[in-house]
Amino acid sequence: MNTANSSRMSVSAPGENTRRRSQENPGACIGAAVDAFRGAYVRRAQSVLRGALIALASLGLAGCGTHRTASSTTPVAPETVGALTADATELGATSFTTAARATTLGGPLGGLDAGSLARFEAGRDEFMDEDDVEEGLGPVFNEASCVTCHTGPVGGTNGRVETRFGRMVGGRFDPMESEGGSLLQDHAIGEIGAGAGVFTYAPESVPTEANVRAGRITTPLFGLGLVDAVPDGTFLTLARLEAFRTPWARGTPNMVTEVATGATRVGRFGWKAQVPTLQQFSGDAYVNEMGVTNPDFPNENCPQGDCTKLAFNPFPTLNNDGEAVEQFFDFMTLLGPPPRAEHSYHGQAGAQVFERIGCASCHTPSLVTGPSPVAALSHKVFFPFSDFLLHDMGALGDGIVQGQAGPRDMRTAPLWGLSSRSAYLHDGRAKSIQDAITAHGGQAAAARAGYYRLGPGSRAQLLAFLRSL
Ligand code: HEC
Ligand code: HEC
Repeated sequence: MNTANSSRMSVSAPGENTRRRSQENPGACIGAAVDAFRGAYVRRAQSVLRGALIALASLGLAGCGTHRTASSTTPVAPETVGALTADATELGATSFTTAARATTLGGPLGGLDAGSLARFEAGRDEFMDEDDVEEGLGPVFNEASCVTCHTGPVGGTNGRVETRFGRMVGGRFDPMESEGGSLLQDHAIGEIGAGAGVFTYAPESVPTEANVRAGRITTPLFGLGLVDAVPDGTFLTLARLEAFRTPWARGTPNMVTEVATGATRVGRFGWKAQVPTLQQFSGDAYVNEMGVTNPDFPNENCPQGDCTKLAFNPFPTLNNDGEAVEQFFDFMTLLGPPPRAEHSYHGQAGAQVFERIGCASCHTPSLVTGPSPVAALSHKVFFPFSDFLLHDMGALGDGIVQGQAGPRDMRTAPLWGLSSRSAYLHDGRAKSIQDAITAHGGQAAAARAGYYRLGPGSRAQLLAFLRSL
């Protein structure tokens, strides 16, 4: 297999690059990865014309041979075509890249060694552990353990919604930190102390001056170790490819500060891609969801923004030395991606509908990890169906500003594991996959229009495909 060109990471002129590969290296593919992953969704551009219909390797058959199936060189209008964003080769896959392996939903990545499995188990125990006031819970918090929200199964989501608020004045967003924003803590430890020192901590509420209020549903954590292992450069490449090939739906990286190092990194976790690493999310969630301070997040949340109330904090020193944070991180890093359902005939046809009406412009089928100390995460192709970039979603945006994510911007939600859920979109407003699609606006308006134009048969195929991810 000739892979001379296939490890290209940065693509300055995507069209040219594609053309070169198509001519010189038509057979290059990530066959090993694809063969290992039944139903893989890996395609490559067959056409060199910008905006042309892109070939779609048929699901379940994807492999070297099928990369050269259907193609068209007829340029078509953006509303009628889902142009390709990027294939795995452009995002770093080489002949050495293999597919990440799932086990069961909530189970570890496939192929872990005994040491990693032990870390997964220990991390899972800590993730399920309920903290109490003696361990640093509160004074204000949302729940006493990670699993209270991330369950069904452990690491998933039970649909728990939390609240963010703020104030938009003259186009400027104020997260209202002095009132406890933007994240509301809806629980508190209650009465504390004895004698002269009795104090009652109360849950926070949305201040009356807030004019933005948004629900945020708990996201499932399956497969996020893979997302963590994607190099920043890959997301930047993807953003460039989108700007070139699907400008109407181009995504933007949320460049944010990595707390541990001060470096500027590509945010990829959270509904607004506001957090760059799983390590950081572990410490961030520990303090913001549970009120447990830890080395990277040493400051307690001031209840309703009033820091004088911390005078009664029963555990004012650093609550956790960071060991629990490492264990959450281990669990989430090693938690496998959702296993995919068997592919029905309908589902395979649905993949082509997904591509044709523009869903794949943002919901990028495959990504590739870089090097990782965990072999099962190193140089793997995986199928999250997201570019993890921000898109202007119009009225669907939640009004909150986080990092470079503006009020209307949301991170493309990954579509893997959809069938294990029953509420969709950032605030859980959609109770069916169809409702989630028809709520898309802004940059996704053309894709939504494409969905409306589908006949009943194609709609059923698309939904079957989405449920198989
Ligand atoms: C009260 C419910 C709740 C608790 C408790 C909770 N989470 Fe979450 N989690 C959420 C919500 C809601 C989001 C989405 C947050 C957002 O984007 O604003 C989330 C998102 C995440 C993400 C990002 C996932 C993604 O798709 O990008 C990670 C990682 C995470 N939580 C880890 C943890 C860990 C670790 C703990 C325990 C220390 C924890 N969470 C406790 C509700 C919770
Ligand atoms: C312009 C980019 C873009 C396009 C095009 C797009 N989406 Fe989305 N999609 C998003 C974003 C961003 C979200 C998260 C929005 C939110 O929750 O506010 C999302 C969310 C979803 C969800 C809900 C996932 C969840 O976790 O709740 C589904 C289902 C979905 N999209 C399917 C589709 C389908 C099917 C198409 C094609 C008809 C499509 N999308 C086209 C950006 C896009």
